[in-house]
Amino acid sequence: MDIEQAHLNDINAIFTVDAEISKDMLERKIRDGEILITKEEGKIIALLRYSFFWDSIPFLNLIKVESKNRGKGFGSALLMQWEESMKEGGHELLMLSTQSDEDGQYFFKRLGYRKTGSFEFPGQEDEIILSKTLKQNMPNEAHQTTSSSPRRV
Ligand SMILES: CC(C)(COP(=O)(O)OP(=O)(O)OC[C@H]1O[C@@H](n2cnc3c(N)ncnc32)[C@H](O)[C@@H]1OP(=O)(O)O)[C@@H](O)C(=O)NCCC(=O)NCCS
Repeated sequence: MDIEQAHLNDINAIFTVDAEISKDMLERKIRDGEILITKEEGKIIALLRYSFFWDSIPFLNLIKVESKNRGKGFGSALLMQWEESMKEGGHELLMLSTQSDEDGQYFFKRLGYRKTGSFEFPGQEDEIILSKTLKQNMPNEAHQTTSSSPRRV
């Protein structure tokens, strides 16, 4: 199993797994390093796409494992790799959201995410916010670049 940042030459393969956003946006996100993929024998079997809430807190938009490969640990390996790379970038808090009736929330809860809020869209189940605080390394080991604790206004 190889987990790596997506490259532009992966875009067509990614689009077959993740057609929820336009190809233009996918291209932009690949250029920004905001898509991680898992490959087995050269084939993409899992994908993680993220962005930044308030332009500072890593926010997971999508994690998806090919259906025949679910339940084998690929999703947790990919999520943990993302967490590690966000931690290396100096981030302390991670966020994501799922619909309150989605099974996917139990995957995140198993991996330490906790409900920290919710919001409503008309005519749809509440969207719940889940977040996780990362434990930073000792001061000498950390590559602290930005803080991503909730801002105070
Ligand atoms: C959710 C998803 C990414 C999990 O990936 P995965 O590779 O199947 O998960 P793992 O094998 O790493 O499982 C890790 C743990 O989470 C649990 N888990 C995984 N999916 C779960 C689900 N849908 N409901 C409840 N628990 C789940 C597993 O049982 C496992 O628990 P264990 O460690 O006690 O055995 C995958 O099922 C998927 O792609 N689902 C469709 C897309 C989706 O719902 N994405 C999440 C919202 S963006």
